[in-house]
Amino acid sequence: MPIYLDHAATTPLRREALEAMLPYLTEHFGNASSSHGFGRRARAALDEAHEIVARALGAMPREVVFTSGGTEANNLAVKGAAWAGKARGHRVITSSVEHHSVGHAMRYLEKFGFEIVELPVDRYGRVDPDDVEAAITPKTILVSVMLANNEVGTIQPIAEIAARVRRHKGVLLHTDAVQAAPYLGIDVNALDVDLLTIAAHKFEGPKGAGALFVRHGTNILAQQQGGAQERYRRAGTEDVAGAVGMAVALELAVAERAATAPRMRGLRDSFAATVRSSEGVQETGHPGERLPGIASFVAPGLEGGAVTMALDLGGLACSTGSACVSGSNEVSHVLSAMGYPEEEARGALRFSLGRTTTAAEIAEAAEMVVRTLAHQREAAAVLRAQEMAALVRALAPGDATADHVGTEAPAG
Ligand SMILES: Cc1ncc(COP(=O)(O)O)c(C=O)c1O
Repeated sequence: MPIYLDHAATTPLRREALEAMLPYLTEHFGNASSSHGFGRRARAALDEAHEIVARALGAMPREVVFTSGGTEANNLAVKGAAWAGKARGHRVITSSVEHHSVGHAMRYLEKFGFEIVELPVDRYGRVDPDDVEAAITPKTILVSVMLANNEVGTIQPIAEIAARVRRHKGVLLHTDAVQAAPYLGIDVNALDVDLLTIAAHKFEGPKGAGALFVRHGTNILAQQQGGAQERYRRAGTEDVAGAVGMAVALELAVAERAATAPRMRGLRDSFAATVRSSEGVQETGHPGERLPGIASFVAPGLEGGAVTMALDLGGLACSTGSACVSGSNEVSHVLSAMGYPEEEARGALRFSLGRTTTAAEIAEAAEMVVRTLAHQREAAAVLRAQEMAALVRALAPGDATADHVGTEAPAG
């Protein structure tokens, strides 16, 4: 049975959520906007899902807007707040380590004349709250900083950032809590944010379901036009089953958090300690202020893609960073912002545990990672020696073998 350590990419749908969803995919299939019995049944389930999600976040049901996931919720928050605030100002502040669903939404806004300020982070990926305050001008309308990073697990000091933002009237604060939601106690009032994003598939809910908390009285411009759903903030027939599944999964994650998070942290820490013992490997992210389930590293001189491929062949699923960067040749913008040079960032590895990860899986995975890294390092050393030998031959004056660069077997 393969071991799955990529829960930051997505989690399996938990049985309780699936069972709660099934009736709304079958006999209770009504459109929640219809006035007949089928519709009323769907509406009641949707209303209850709003109540459950709101309770889990410390919000009011009307402050929860259901979306098709984290990406849509982030786009709605960032673009919706920017367009709604355009008359007051055009300056938007964010960090250099956001998920692309925030970062690329910012780039989109830039095309329309918004001024985007991307704050630096320290070696651990943390934003300095004082930098946030220093960047705020009378033209600032929005600050968007994630609660926890998806590649390295670093938790941002959002409550401290909120305290700075609150000194400036009219500036909204958004946080992307997609990775944090299942593991940190989320209370929108304690965090003092105006907008907060969650996504169901990160806490064993269905894919394609998410929510944006929009504080009562906060003005955002809807990003799609159509019906009056979600109080005019998100047009389109609601995914009742998705909302129900998300609500059940979130309620369970919150109820189990006190037991799940420390158990995961213990497993994570022992896994990280073993992997760190590999030659040259450095752990990335904050040593203490981090999510309990993400262990991330760089293995300088190795290619993260080659290591994850070898691990996959051996029966361990993990990733090089965020799922959207995997498979491309791009170096992680998160590690670059944290000051890792390209040759180190190329060796990025991320292992993310879930609620169902076992101690036996962690022990087996740690051993497999150490072994694979050793093999990869040996292979890289042989390759380097081959390249060096070829170079030496190519540079040797009058050497007939120069025509055969790269085709010779390595010496020794
Ligand atoms: C921090 C963060 N924000 C946003 C998203 C996007 O969420 P979704 O996959 O639901 O669109 C992800 C998903 O990887 C994420 O990790």
